[in-house]
Amino acid sequence: MSEKQQYSLLPTAANSAATTTTTPNTTFTKDTAADATRYRRRLRIGFFKLCLVAAAFYTLFWMPLDDDSNDSDNILNERSPSHHHHHHHKGVHKAHHKDYRDRGLAKQYGFAKHMDAAVEQIVEGTLESNIVWDRLAEMTDTYGPRIVGSDALEKSIDWIVGKVKADNLSVTTEDVMVDYWQRNEESLHFLSPTRGPVKLHILGLGYSVATPDPVNGLTAEVLVVQSKEELDQLGEAGEVEGKVVVWNRRFDSYDTSYMYRLEGAVWAEKHGAVAALVRALGPFSLQTPHTGGSIAAKIPTASISAEDADLLERSQRRHQQQPEQYPDWPKVKLVMGATTDLDARVSRNIIVELKGREKPEEVVVLGGHIDSWDVGSGAVDDGIGCFIAWETIRQLSRLDQPPRRTVRVVFWTSEENTSVGGVVYAKNHPESKESRHVFAFESDTGVFDPYGIGFTPSQSQRNLLRDPKSITPMDYLAAAGEYFLGSREDLGYPGAGRHVLPNGGGADIEPLCEKGIACANFMPADPFPLPYSTSPYALTRPPLEQEDSDDSQERHQYHQGEHGHNHLHRRHRHHHHPDEAPRRPVDSGYFYYHHTEADTMGAFTPEQAKQSAAVMAIWTYIAAESDIEF
Ligand SMILES: *[C@@H]1O[C@H](CO)[C@@H](O)[C@H](O)[C@H]1NC(C)=O
Ligand SMILES: *[C@@H]1O[C@H](CO)[C@@H](O)[C@H](O)[C@H]1NC(C)=O
Ligand SMILES: [Zn+2]
Repeated sequence: MSEKQQYSLLPTAANSAATTTTTPNTTFTKDTAADATRYRRRLRIGFFKLCLVAAAFYTLFWMPLDDDSNDSDNILNERSPSHHHHHHHKGVHKAHHKDYRDRGLAKQYGFAKHMDAAVEQIVEGTLESNIVWDRLAEMTDTYGPRIVGSDALEKSIDWIVGKVKADNLSVTTEDVMVDYWQRNEESLHFLSPTRGPVKLHILGLGYSVATPDPVNGLTAEVLVVQSKEELDQLGEAGEVEGKVVVWNRRFDSYDTSYMYRLEGAVWAEKHGAVAALVRALGPFSLQTPHTGGSIAAKIPTASISAEDADLLERSQRRHQQQPEQYPDWPKVKLVMGATTDLDARVSRNIIVELKGREKPEEVVVLGGHIDSWDVGSGAVDDGIGCFIAWETIRQLSRLDQPPRRTVRVVFWTSEENTSVGGVVYAKNHPESKESRHVFAFESDTGVFDPYGIGFTPSQSQRNLLRDPKSITPMDYLAAAGEYFLGSREDLGYPGAGRHVLPNGGGADIEPLCEKGIACANFMPADPFPLPYSTSPYALTRPPLEQEDSDDSQERHQYHQGEHGHNHLHRRHRHHHHPDEAPRRPVDSGYFYYHHTEADTMGAFTPEQAKQSAAVMAIWTYIAAESDIEF
């Protein structure tokens, strides 16, 4: 994920509310009409969930047994979600069984029986080996991180293409012109008047220029500021000239902080600064700078650790408050030898395709970006996103019959520099009668425990004047999550991967989303859910009200009925292990690793990799096998 990714990682009620006030973050929440629609949809989903619970209760305790041996046809838009479905139920005893599924939901939403078998096969196939983790470890151990323009990226692409061919999958590549930025030698020292030079922790920001002397660097006084307003005031007073500006804004969220990384150098340069250092964009720090893209300025720019940014700020304050004791402004020596070659190389998108058996012209596209930054090994961002998509198509190709729609996996290149791979892909594959995208699905926020998906329906579905009682794509997916994943216990924790939250998207599929195609993203659970830390470098904002998180869902259900049995039944299905920590959709936990040396195979387990692959494969299968318009 890069600065281009403008949708929020927090597709929650709190977030939707925030977008109408200050946050300039989500691509999909820019216009208020869309907000209103989404709000109405949320209400409807809330109502829908309530109906599900009511229906389950009705089913368990009052429903006469009746037969439901038929595969039902798709009956979308004909029945209201609250329609009382009749279905056969073998009773609560079956609830503990692995294959327990609510056939009533299947009937209501048209989940055909062969889909049950396919989903079983997908899960079995995915869980049977560690191939996802092993392959990614082999590639990243062998070739290292994959910054765009590098040989490491192209060698990794060749390696993948070879392996995909060995999987007997159909694979092509398409060329993308890219730039090549190399960090080369870099260092930062705090020139302490008392101790002498103290080595600080930095990572140059992508596309930064070198220091004018790339070997001896530059030495200058620092000027620590918190905000652009503060810098502009000091700039007008002539106090920025010749200084190294240190942006020491605390991280509150990626969406509100990344502008400082992206534009901090450009803003500082306007006031005559000689360099810009940006406090790391992360919610937690163990002397961890985070690299990432910046808009190329004429002055060099680098990320410094949160600890070092605070050290410089304290030193500046001491000088200002006790000038007799600390007569000198704090100074730093910055050396950067970075180089940029524009349009230097040809990189490639990798495209793997499985033709649909009934509607080959309708394409479900999924994937991640194969490029990474040049630190760590790019396992989290976004190697694993690509590899669970790869496993998805490998599993779907092994089913008795391919899905109805074409499934296409893309390993997009150069996401970290303006998502050119995604732009080129959208240009090369325009919508036409012969081939059109019906669902675009990206994984680019890491893979930890699976949580679910974020989803935005297509423009045509958003515009559709529909009977308020009819089933929306969102309703359909929520029911599918409940039906295919809600009762599973083998994907990490009970019901793992079943959630559907509003606001889907991703940097590589954004050109498709902008055309009005339905967009979704794979969403892991947060590896470090709030509240989690007493560290001063950890976020302090309170946990979000998260209506879709497991714990609050439990509260919600508890609230639903004094009818304890139903509650226990539901509880049993999703909370088999009472001591299990509740999951939350990924938020700040992903940003522990983002663009750091810690982005390695150590961030997640082989189990998480295969369970996430299974979840992505199930959602892809649902999108590709169904005949609804998303
Ligand atoms: C791919 O196809 C070849 C030839 O049909 C076969 O020998 C091989 O086992 C297949 N590989 C896989 C992974 O299915
Ligand atoms: C890559 O980023 C740099 C710095 O922002 C920019 O100048 C360049 O145009 C970008 N490359 C592409 C292909 O967009
Ligand atoms: Zn990424």
